Amino acid sequence: MMEWTDRHCRFFHRLMSKQALLYTEMVTSPALVRGNATHLLRYSQAEQPVALQLGGSDPAELAEAARLGAQAGYAEINLNVGCPSDRVQNGAFGAILMRDPKLVAECCAAMIKASPVEVTVKCRIGVDDQEPSDVLPEFIARVAGAGVGRFTIHARKAWLQGLSPKENRDIPPLDYELVQQMKGLFPALHLSLNGGVTTLADAKAALDRGMDGVMIGRAAYHQPGDILMDADHMIFGAPKLERTREDIVMAMLPYIDAHIAEGGKLGQVTRHMLGIFAGKPGARHWKRHLSENAHKSDAGSHTVVDAIEMMHAARPAA
Ligand SMILES: Cc1cc2nc3c(=O)[nH]c(=O)nc-3n(C[C@H](O)[C@H](O)[C@H](O)COP(=O)(O)O)c2cc1C
Repeated sequence: MMEWTDRHCRFFHRLMSKQALLYTEMVTSPALVRGNATHLLRYSQAEQPVALQLGGSDPAELAEAARLGAQAGYAEINLNVGCPSDRVQNGAFGAILMRDPKLVAECCAAMIKASPVEVTVKCRIGVDDQEPSDVLPEFIARVAGAGVGRFTIHARKAWLQGLSPKENRDIPPLDYELVQQMKGLFPALHLSLNGGVTTLADAKAALDRGMDGVMIGRAAYHQPGDILMDADHMIFGAPKLERTREDIVMAMLPYIDAHIAEGGKLGQVTRHMLGIFAGKPGARHWKRHLSENAHKSDAGSHTVVDAIEMMHAARPAA
């Protein structure tokens, strides 16, 4: 997710779940190939498995971007066919490509040829006045024909005119039923459901209905303690680990120290950590202390420890 799932966020998320697949922000193939922005591929091995998400619509350029991503060691290369923002429409990529499955298939074929790691697609169920029950199976069939075996489907349309990117994540209605039907039509494909899933119980229910995966975006970011800390146990069947949210925060301190020693700022890391105590007593003291202090010049891991202490001090005595 743009501006959210940067490498600091992914390092933090990986401390909570060893098995969930994490995704980069979308990196555009023009930036990577023509802009030479290979710094956008930076990540730490500790974040793995991480999928690199690419945006673009030029087969040769996407192939080169996929090659660079695979060479950098990403576990998967994912093509974005879901993002509705204006900037992306003008570059003719993202959700607008739902209108051109032939081009998406060409892009994917070129990427598959260039990349030794799996190429996957994230799409919508349609755009604008398209009829999802017609276009989605056509889109999947065409792109699967190019060799793509895994799709993540955001179960709502994108309206390319008139809705902001944020509105496009909330206003078009969710159609889980249609996504579910795709699993019936394409049983050999690995199909993941995305959109509006806010609990692991809901994710589990989708898996129980036959989906192969569930992608959780905003809820995992805003309530990582509820989603990611229990995912390995509830979704992947790993033994339940006895650890607290405070343990996760303390495990971030060496990373924070190293980031600051390299000239980084505390807030670049802690902005992703504000939600870890969501719903717990005193959580607003944690958030407030970090929000008010993380930008200060002497801020460091001690600021994070202070924020935990303030939260604990604000809790009613047991
Ligand atoms: C801040 C933000 C940035 C996003 N950036 C991307 C992106 O770069 N690529 C992408 O495929 N989806 C992006 N999305 C969409 C999410 O991946 C997801 O499809 C959407 O939020 C619906 O899932 P959710 O209800 O679980 O959040 C973004 C969402 C948000 C809130």
